[in-house]
Amino acid sequence: MAERFKNFVDGRWVDARSGKTFENRNPADRDDLIGYFPLSGAQDADAAVKAAKKAFPQWSRVPAPKRAEILYRAGELLRLHKEEIAKGMTREMGKILQETRGDVQEGIDTAYYTAGEGRRLFGQTAPSELTDKFAMTVRLPLGVCALITPWNFPLAIPTWKLFPALLCGNTVVLKPAEDTPHTAVKFVELLVEAGVPRGVVNLLHGRGEEAGAALVRHPDVRLVSFTGSCAVGREIAAQCGRDLKRVSLEMGGKNAEIVMEDADLELALEGALWGAFGTTGQRCTATSRLILHRDIKKAFTEKLVARAEKIKIGDGLNEEVEMGPLINDAAVEKVQGYVQVGKKEGARLLTGGSPCRDKTLQRGFFFQPTVFDRVTPQMRIAKEEIFGPVVSIIEVKNFEEAVPVLNGTAYGLSSSIYTRDVARAFRAIRNLEAGITYINGPTIGAEVHLPFGGVKDTGNGHREAGTTVIDIFTEWKTVYVDYSGKLQKAQIDNVD
Ligand code: UN1
Repeated sequence: MAERFKNFVDGRWVDARSGKTFENRNPADRDDLIGYFPLSGAQDADAAVKAAKKAFPQWSRVPAPKRAEILYRAGELLRLHKEEIAKGMTREMGKILQETRGDVQEGIDTAYYTAGEGRRLFGQTAPSELTDKFAMTVRLPLGVCALITPWNFPLAIPTWKLFPALLCGNTVVLKPAEDTPHTAVKFVELLVEAGVPRGVVNLLHGRGEEAGAALVRHPDVRLVSFTGSCAVGREIAAQCGRDLKRVSLEMGGKNAEIVMEDADLELALEGALWGAFGTTGQRCTATSRLILHRDIKKAFTEKLVARAEKIKIGDGLNEEVEMGPLINDAAVEKVQGYVQVGKKEGARLLTGGSPCRDKTLQRGFFFQPTVFDRVTPQMRIAKEEIFGPVVSIIEVKNFEEAVPVLNGTAYGLSSSIYTRDVARAFRAIRNLEAGITYINGPTIGAEVHLPFGGVKDTGNGHREAGTTVIDIFTEWKTVYVDYSGKLQKAQIDNVD
């Protein structure tokens, strides 16, 4: 009998009020049932928000360095349980062990980094324009935050949001993706063990349309932090706009790697393979387009195809495997749909394009590494996010042509250029429309102590990670202390 997992509300593990559940299965083997999870609705969301609201006054008054100590302990526990969490994550999400270990490590890094911030959380002091008057700013928490997270980084992304939210003194309701609820349960268990008080962290399982939407609409939720698709992000932003709630969005990408004729081609090839097929292409930072200088295009493409065909596909729990499955049936259909679109638009399919036919892979959502050539910037496969192991090659004649091609999508998350020319590298840093630019590195590999996010339709101007995440989870308060003992009028008394 598969285990029945629960929500975590006000310090207790509870079922959904309706008693309804949903299944969680292994994408590498759909016969492997991981467990049943509560299919929460508006009432469950309300209970979780109420618990978070009740816990807020006390938690927000715990000194930040003390809150940080709990996060540090959470980091220690994640470190201790790294292997077990990684294995569970591979089982429910599919990416290979090496990558799920990296995902947990990203959570550990975030815990330690955020814990350090507990003794900073700096405000500013500024001179007043008046005599015997002091001016400063302090950061204050907002209240209840709804954190809605995707399945492709089942631990790292919840930690990016939850640790800073807590550090700043907020309380939270976490709504993890329905494809990866188990990792979220493990995470919350560790947070409880680390000493997070009752009601400060609440876990709500279920579908975005029900549980997620109920959180977004809830009048006591002060902030929504969402990572996921652009379509859902737009709806959340519209709702939060009407309610005047703060909303931080991290959405799609259509990232490209430019390879110039002077590049170290072996290095660029390694970067392209890792960027395009790592995590089976299911990263918002994945390399979805390769913009190749015409002088190196033929040789580079041949090598890329040869290497793509050698990638070992299978169950990510097997250490030999290099690429796991897609997340679910719908993902296979979507990726297959884009392959048809690409063919119809006149792109040339060089390799892949289908679910894996191998008998041993029939029970999972495996898809072949896929390379399209002769892609033009106007094609849909050059513009829309596919979120699968599909890469499109676009040929350009020089750097001046490469830049607008890279910029020619609605998204702007990550970008990369391989070149040995320093001037070109700096021009790329300035001209590429993206939140992240890598010089001689792939489009994936962001580190947690630097801002993460994108421009254009990728986000709404916020940056998670780094110190910038603190701006998302705090309100500024400006404080004036007048110790002159008399009424002093700014802009009036000190003017001749
Ligand atoms: C994501 O794809 O949603 O830079 C996040 C990277 C990872 C984070 C990716 N550190 O690819």
